[in-house]
Amino acid sequence: MISNSASLELQKQVNQLMPGGHSNLRIPLIARPCFISHGKGAHLWDVDGNEYIDFMCAAGAAIFGYSNQEHIQALKDQLDTLPCLISGAAQTPMEVELAGKFIQHVPCAEKVRFCLSGSEAVQLAIRLARAYTKRRHFIRFEGHYHGWLDNVLGGVVDDDPRGRPLAVDSEDDPLLTEGRDPAAFEQSFKLPWNDIGVLENVLGRYGEEVAMVLMEPILCNGGCCSPRPGYLERVRELCTEFGIVLCFDEIITGFRVGLSCAQGEFGVTPDIATFGKALGGGIPVSAVAGRAEIMDLLLERRVIGAGTFNGYPLGVAACLASLNILEKDNGAYHKKVDKVQGLLMDGLKEVSLRYGVPTLIQGPRGVFFFQFIDKDVAYSVRDLKDADVERQNRFRTLMAEEGVFFMWGGRWYTSGALTETDVEKALERADRAMSRL
Ligand SMILES: Cc1ncc(COP(=O)(O)O)c(C=O)c1O
Repeated sequence: MISNSASLELQKQVNQLMPGGHSNLRIPLIARPCFISHGKGAHLWDVDGNEYIDFMCAAGAAIFGYSNQEHIQALKDQLDTLPCLISGAAQTPMEVELAGKFIQHVPCAEKVRFCLSGSEAVQLAIRLARAYTKRRHFIRFEGHYHGWLDNVLGGVVDDDPRGRPLAVDSEDDPLLTEGRDPAAFEQSFKLPWNDIGVLENVLGRYGEEVAMVLMEPILCNGGCCSPRPGYLERVRELCTEFGIVLCFDEIITGFRVGLSCAQGEFGVTPDIATFGKALGGGIPVSAVAGRAEIMDLLLERRVIGAGTFNGYPLGVAACLASLNILEKDNGAYHKKVDKVQGLLMDGLKEVSLRYGVPTLIQGPRGVFFFQFIDKDVAYSVRDLKDADVERQNRFRTLMAEEGVFFMWGGRWYTSGALTETDVEKALERADRAMSRL
């Protein structure tokens, strides 16, 4: 049993001072208290000196791992040249340079605006779509996550709606929250994803009411499911036909799956898209980018997208550093991730076969899903309903004891800092955890 007396001491303070512990919804680690002191590369150390190979990557933000020198240098330079307290109240040439680089890489981005969190980027996208279409409703999908605000958080699909397919509250919903405005669910229709017939049907009846179709282009929050062949293309056609703004929420996939993001990888261009996490490489920044006609609603404040810290120099410097690293050596960063992630995914599959445990492993570059279920592929959260969640939870706890962190639910992020040696070690630890399952 590894020692965690320093963490236990901190936990006592947390219990008194911080309701629910760490402020992030999905980071809570494992059964025992664990507080992190520092990180380097793909490794974290806790306050008791225990080392972990980390596949949480700060919930997907730490795309370069921890203490990446290029990133740190960019931030230091920034702190040296501008007082860091200058917020978005000051325009900087750096922000213009960032916008230029962004537009160069992201297919839908004719124009771009920066903000801080993914949640607020999504809200700005919704507001823009409503202003552009003069319609109220938006469509969102089962298993997709778009932030913690009332109108996008949780709610389950009503499979037999009497009228408009609004989400409903349910005790089974892991994202059920008290305190939500009861009218919030009236803003959107919630549908199963990757089922084009369902979308066609709903648009056939209510298409004229819909301002925006909002989705993760790869369902990272629900099993790292890929879109079925032709699904995104058909969604694109339908949105054009009904005059609906198509929004890809690329807050996980953006810059992680490739420099041109998921939209570039699939060759399907939305009207607008949101970005966060990896963009800042661990520093809080998000962005909304899209067609000029829509983004230009922000001109003359026809649509307001405010925020004290929007475009703050430290964040902008972090984004520029991220893009610089990703652009270098003809995509070397992403090629490296392909290689080590491939080794890791193959290795995990082998380990589970060795112990005769059926598992599913799937996902794009930079993030994957490893779950205890006898399936070769899943296309939606519905395909995952028979997953052995208890076993997943036990595995995650055992892996943390062995010194490997990954996200709650079986999601693993890979960073550019991950080495083949890290993968070998992680697989040895996975083998030991599997033997104790
Ligand atoms: C796809 C997606 N959209 C939006 C968000 C919300 O971003 P943030 O947590 O930065 O508010 C998240 C966060 O995990 C996400 O995964």
